[in-house]
Amino acid sequence: MSFIKPILLSVSLTFFFFSLFLGSSSAQTVVKASYWFPASEFPVTDIDSSLFTHLFCAFADLNSQTNQVVVASANQAKFSTFTQTVQQRNPNVKTLLSIGGGIADKTAYASMASNPTSRRSFIDSSIRLARSYGFHGLDLDWEYPSTPTEMSNFGTLIQEWRSAVVAEASSSGRQRLLLAAAVFYSNNYYSVLYPVQAVANSLDWVNLMAYDFYGPGWSRVTGPPAALYDPSNAGPSGDAGVRSWIQAGLPAKKAVLGFPYYGYAWRLSNANSHSYYAPTTGAAISPDGSIGYGPIRKFIADNRATTVYNATVVGDYTYSGTTWIGYDDNQSIVTKVRYAKQRGLLGYFSWHVGADDNSGLSRAASQAWNAAPATASIIRS
Ligand SMILES: *[C@@H]1O[C@H](CO)[C@@H](O)[C@H](O)[C@H]1NC(C)=O
Ligand SMILES: *[C@@H]1O[C@H](CO)[C@@H](O)[C@H](O)[C@H]1NC(C)=O
Repeated sequence: MSFIKPILLSVSLTFFFFSLFLGSSSAQTVVKASYWFPASEFPVTDIDSSLFTHLFCAFADLNSQTNQVVVASANQAKFSTFTQTVQQRNPNVKTLLSIGGGIADKTAYASMASNPTSRRSFIDSSIRLARSYGFHGLDLDWEYPSTPTEMSNFGTLIQEWRSAVVAEASSSGRQRLLLAAAVFYSNNYYSVLYPVQAVANSLDWVNLMAYDFYGPGWSRVTGPPAALYDPSNAGPSGDAGVRSWIQAGLPAKKAVLGFPYYGYAWRLSNANSHSYYAPTTGAAISPDGSIGYGPIRKFIADNRATTVYNATVVGDYTYSGTTWIGYDDNQSIVTKVRYAKQRGLLGYFSWHVGADDNSGLSRAASQAWNAAPATASIIRS
């Protein structure tokens, strides 16, 4: 039995120094996050920030003439008080200003990243804005760098951004700004690869956007919009994305798994054919079929709709008559959160906090993270 003690001692010493290291650097231990954006019309004061470690305020824009990061005048009041507002319920929550987004002009980002002067404008203005509004960090949502040159410029941009926030912290004596980016669910964007090494070296983490896999705008059949697994292994899935990034060299502790607080609604061709991959005539409920989780719960209650959880793909769907909605309910969210923790990922995020139903999904997610066993890599080694 005498051999046990030195092993335990070395494990606890390792853990002790590991904790010291974490405490003395700005490394994050967990990210439980969501995005907020003003057009959701969800009041910032209604965010239950006690359920989050980080909140993203979206979006600041890139001025394509000056290459500076700017906040639309209609958003300035809300953005400049965002941090103070969400810290009322949780003084420890950290905030990041997100730049870009799905509808931003991606050619402006490609152009900005292609030359040192415009990169400098972007970087310096982003840091000034984050500091003047009181954010703890910055998040770049360039969707997406889509040629090898753009990917390489994206890598250069984030490396310069990292050097600049390090320099700013030492000259201002303040804690370094966090740097994150929202990226494609896979490191392989239609055969163009992300510069994973630059990502790993420069960013505190990346948000993997593991959703929008199926939607009426690009799929005539129903499907799970944000499957964690694809049983055929041929299509997109959260797990395939996570594995691709990690195999390409991203440390698991820099990956944050995303899931949607919205679903997609289709009009079924035949009310009796209502499983995955059923034929449809297109979108239902809204022009692109997107519908928030809150309204989905209302649809279910109003129509006494049938709900199905598919544990193979990890996704929910509901249908009534010819309306069919694929989405993530509690069980899908909880399963994804457990997956993230067990795979040793840094955490999870959702798009977007305003689409939740009385914070139900966020509460389920936060509880699931706390309850899930962690990977025991320190003990095992
Ligand atoms: C879940 O979805 C997969 C993929 O469509 C399907 O093969 C499987 O039968 C479904 N499972 C259940 C229990 O419906
Ligand atoms: C989801 O979980 C939350 C937190 O546990 C709970 O408040 C909510 O009622 C659940 N919703 C459903 C539809 O089960």
